[in-house]
Amino acid sequence: MNPAESDPARVAVVTGGANGLGRASALRLARDGCTIAIWDCDRAAAERTAQEIRAGGAAASARQVDVASLDDLQAAHRAALDEHGAVDILVNAAAIIGVDASVLTTPLDEWREVLAVNLTGTYLASRLVAGGMAARGWGRIVNFTSHARRGVPALTPYAVSKAGVVPLTRAFALEFSARGVLVNAVCPGRALTGMVLSRVPAEVVRNPPVAIGRYAHPDEVAEVVAFLASERNTYVSGGIVPVDGGG
Ligand SMILES: NC(=O)c1ccc[n+]([C@@H]2O[C@H](COP(=O)([O-])OP(=O)(O)OC[C@H]3O[C@@H](n4cnc5c(N)ncnc54)[C@H](O)[C@@H]3O)[C@@H](O)[C@H]2O)c1
Repeated sequence: MNPAESDPARVAVVTGGANGLGRASALRLARDGCTIAIWDCDRAAAERTAQEIRAGGAAASARQVDVASLDDLQAAHRAALDEHGAVDILVNAAAIIGVDASVLTTPLDEWREVLAVNLTGTYLASRLVAGGMAARGWGRIVNFTSHARRGVPALTPYAVSKAGVVPLTRAFALEFSARGVLVNAVCPGRALTGMVLSRVPAEVVRNPPVAIGRYAHPDEVAEVVAFLASERNTYVSGGIVPVDGGG
């Protein structure tokens, strides 16, 4: 049976849904029959993605949101409840990579901003929606971590933020799974998005050090996000799911 036909219509919020892996996830979830609310600081791109989804026949809204701002998130949450009735699925894809710097010279503002967007933003958005999901007895949260969480040269705030997403994901899973809210993180390896193309030399993009021998297309990551966010996922929670072509 086609899951899009069998699943109830769900409302999915996708932070960072304007571009890259969030955008691909939003488009994929829309194909599964979800109504999509895009929360992204890039207003123009968020509108474009929402328009693309509507052109495909699904409902979609776009809102300019800085996920590091609790005020923005609360306002977006209220608007989503007013417009769509509920939030059933949350995909926390919004993130910034920060500037390259030694651990000794990373500007403190940079440290705070990367953690505020990538880690605190994921926490705050999850915190806003998890209670309502539990009250309705169904919900899915999909976070984004990275192999950078092991520690990488020159991107320490990003690495620390992505490491923090792991216990955050597990904490929500431990507290909410029994109430029907399954919480996981995907761990992309190397996927072709603006975040990567802006900093990786073309030669590495052509010939990456990945077992499968190539970068992921964003749709390949979105496919896993869509599974974790769906009715088809009945028993995966607290997982850190690699989508990394073998690493
Ligand atoms: N691309 C990869 O290879 C890769 C690898 C590992 C993990 N990831 C993770 O995947 C997720 C998506 O990354 P991507 O490669 O698609 O990046 P991207 O830069 O293409 O997209 C990120 C999106 O987040 C939005 N955003 C940034 N700051 C925001 C804020 N404060 N509030 C709201 N929205 C904000 C941007 O506007 C953009 O639309 C991120 O969490 C990233 O850490 C990506």
